[in-house]
Amino acid sequence: MKKITIAIDGHSSCGKSTMAKDLAREIGYIYIDSGAMYRCCTLFCMEQGLINADGSIQTDELERRMPEIHVSFQLNPETGRPDAYLNGENVEKRIRTMEVSSHVSPVAALPFVRAAMTAQQQEMGSKGGIVMDGRDIGTAVFPNAELKIFVTASDEIRAQRRYDELVAKGEEANFDDVLANLRERDRIDSTRAVAPLRQAPDALVLDNSHLTIPEQKQWLIDRFKERI
Ligand code: CDP
Repeated sequence: MKKITIAIDGHSSCGKSTMAKDLAREIGYIYIDSGAMYRCCTLFCMEQGLINADGSIQTDELERRMPEIHVSFQLNPETGRPDAYLNGENVEKRIRTMEVSSHVSPVAALPFVRAAMTAQQQEMGSKGGIVMDGRDIGTAVFPNAELKIFVTASDEIRAQRRYDELVAKGEEANFDDVLANLRERDRIDSTRAVAPLRQAPDALVLDNSHLTIPEQKQWLIDRFKERI
């Protein structure tokens, strides 16, 4: 059977990656977390001193050093999920902090960062059989994807999910900061000039505010079966 391309886009912290990972595992496809790639670029900036004290980015220097950023994924046998590697180092835990979350959207808005990551994502998905989640997968990275899903949920529910996730990982978190961060990221992601977050006209919309994880998984599997 021909393997298709599945694009899952939507707002911050609405559970896209949980959905995408579960679906990929169930149907034997490769899962790619495109947000992790932008988080890796952001971690690189933070570690190389390319983010100034006021939060601004040293864009000329970052553009010059983009060829030094290599992102890859390797399956973690313990979790059964792919971990992100930046230049050969496992950075899965370090890219999920609030500090990375607070800088990632301005980094991801830079056109040369998007061009580099989009090219890598298109290469990773060139043979189909992929589930990729992000902001612009169905609109810019794979506009011809056979199945496109646009996920959303209320701000408060999304913030609560992300807050619970951070606390479960032992991170210090404050609910109001998490809520403010996801609203700010949505604002920047939706208004940037290149590949803004928006629903593709042919995407199916899922508001998962009141769905359990097994319910949303079933919804997605049903859509996949319809499409193939
Ligand atoms: O999991 P969460 O919703 O917090 O976000 P993520 O998927 O890890 O993405 C982090 C950030 O990367 C987003 O807020 C966007 O600024 C950026 N991003 C993007 O610009 N394009 C994508 N395809 C994926 C993420």
